[in-house]
Amino acid sequence: MKKINLKGKSFLKLLDFSSREVFYLLELSRHVKSEKRAGFFPKRLANKNIALLFEKTSTRTRAAFTVAAVDEGAHPEYLGKNDIQLGKKESVKDTARVLGRMFDGIEFRGFNQSTVEDLAKYSGVPVWNGLTNEYHPTQALADLLTVMEYYGTLSQKKMVYIGDGRNNVANSLMIGCALTGVDVTIIAPKSLWPQPELIEQAKNKAMNHWKVVVSEKVEDVQGADAVYTDVWVSMGEEDKPGIQERIKSLEPYQVNSKLMAKTGKDSIFLHCLPAHHQDGVHDLEVTEDVFESDTSLVFEQAENRLHTIKAIMIATLGNC
Ligand code: CP
Repeated sequence: MKKINLKGKSFLKLLDFSSREVFYLLELSRHVKSEKRAGFFPKRLANKNIALLFEKTSTRTRAAFTVAAVDEGAHPEYLGKNDIQLGKKESVKDTARVLGRMFDGIEFRGFNQSTVEDLAKYSGVPVWNGLTNEYHPTQALADLLTVMEYYGTLSQKKMVYIGDGRNNVANSLMIGCALTGVDVTIIAPKSLWPQPELIEQAKNKAMNHWKVVVSEKVEDVQGADAVYTDVWVSMGEEDKPGIQERIKSLEPYQVNSKLMAKTGKDSIFLHCLPAHHQDGVHDLEVTEDVFESDTSLVFEQAENRLHTIKAIMIATLGNC
């Protein structure tokens, strides 16, 4: 693995990275995963203190940052929305300057992309985006690692994302695919298509021959090596007007065995989790049989959050 220097760089959105840097982070993720499997725990973050800022709840992201930090010898400190003054009694700018004097790195999960950008701007330490309304870049890295491991390569692969095509997961996945040359098709009702400006930005960062298609037709799932969906209502949107109409409009886009058969391949199924699959009657974005099928890699994907987040932290902050 050829080392690339990312020391001191924040991980705010994938558009800030080059293809070479993303492939390096994926290789490093594979490396740290194999180390952990072998029981080898080099302390590349020894004596580092890591702040974990969560405005929203989390299972995978919080667990991944915590375990990755401890594996590498760092001290993670969880600071939930009711624990600190961030954005309420104290500005983001002031909070960033305080935390930057005490912590060596900061993870942020919350609403506004501008918050994570300001934390990076004013703290003076690497800041990692654990999900904002716009992006979920650590998730996209784990998604790509999962596909890479299963097929042994990302070359000539096609990913189909079906459902809410303009949420943070879809946005980051599209950019991650562009940077790694994975063709991507977003299938969604027109009202939930990704922003045209974001598609243009992804094209500008893309590897040669990258293909992006945005479609309303479920038939365009054909040829997919991986079929990916996410919840139809994202965190924080539950009480927004029009949610029931959105759910109705997404019903034809459910991932079920009929849709998986339309790929014409033994495609894998991906989901960032948590998922709404319940009992075969109240399933929403994915049916129980697909979720529990042999080609569903959702728990491999969840585990890969740990290895990719560890790679991001040690590349930007650690001794490696
Ligand atoms: N996929 C994901 O971000 O999971 P959590 O919300 O549990 O962190």
